[in-house]
Amino acid sequence: MAGRPRGGCARTGGRDNSRSLRSKGDAVPRIKQHSDTGGSNARVSEEDRVRHLALVHGLPRLAEGQGTYLTNCAGCHGANGEGNIVLNAPKLAGQESWYLKRQLNYYKQGIRGTHTDDLFGQQMAPMAATLADDAAINNVVAYIQTLPNDPAPVTIQGNVANGQALFNPTCGICHNRNGQGVWAVNAPALSGFSDWYLVRQLQNYKSGVRGAHPQDKFGFQMTSMVNGLKDDEAITDVVAYINSLR
Ligand code: HEC
Ligand code: HEC
Repeated sequence: MAGRPRGGCARTGGRDNSRSLRSKGDAVPRIKQHSDTGGSNARVSEEDRVRHLALVHGLPRLAEGQGTYLTNCAGCHGANGEGNIVLNAPKLAGQESWYLKRQLNYYKQGIRGTHTDDLFGQQMAPMAATLADDAAINNVVAYIQTLPNDPAPVTIQGNVANGQALFNPTCGICHNRNGQGVWAVNAPALSGFSDWYLVRQLQNYKSGVRGAHPQDKFGFQMTSMVNGLKDDEAITDVVAYINSLR
């Protein structure tokens, strides 16, 4: 007799427990549906899906990259990564992700932006330092990849024919004849980017402001290549030709 109410109690308790477990553990059936349907189930939000993928595969988190970009980068490089000549910040939108990541790491590690005469690189280096780790770099670069790749305004004039004669036999081998870059030789895209910035980088490579750091093995390739550009006129000519490749 005394056992029955206890048993009844236990059964009732059991039902209550299972009900409360179901409501508390709402995530359990949702995850099951997620894997059953390959993520197309409407109950799994896009944000959940991206977080899940990021967790499992280490993929970039766009929303975080966007937050970082808008807070730490857009002020100089523009809301669309279009660049800002007044602030000396080049266009980033449309640049290859492997190249952007390398430059951000270079700035972080002091391989770029530490030369005493590198006034503009010195402005960028502390900004790269705000990116805590590889994940932060991946996220912000992934966001930059979503920005529209509109060609930057033309500000440099020069002798295009002379520039072509300089570009094709040397620069074009690594940066591609169309100036769009070649991943296999680590050479970034040039055409459609801020022309005033390209001029400054060529001057920087020539003067050793960029590329001279002992660990800058990719920039080092450029320091010898710019010897083919004998003066500022040759530099503006080659950039005028790069402008014509858009
Ligand atoms: C205070 C202004 C400023 C802010 C903020 C800033 N940058 Fe820059 N950034 C610059 C300048 C100036 C340069 C050009 C340096 C030079 O001329 O060598 C540059 C260069 C770069 C480059 C090299 C581009 C190339 O083609 O080699 C990358 C990549 C870059 N910035 C990304 C970022 C990212 C990502 C952020 C946000 C985390 C950021 N920048 C924030 C000013 C800024
Ligand atoms: C041997 C291959 C090679 C040749 C030839 C070459 N480049 Fe480069 N260039 C590179 C590499 C690699 C980088 C990237 C360096 C880095 O990652 O820091 C680069 C970077 C640059 C940059 C900096 C771009 C930026 O966004 O900051 C400019 C500008 C440039 N090259 C122009 C030229 C021009 C003009 C010529 C011809 C006179 C030329 N390059 C020839 C390999 C080459």
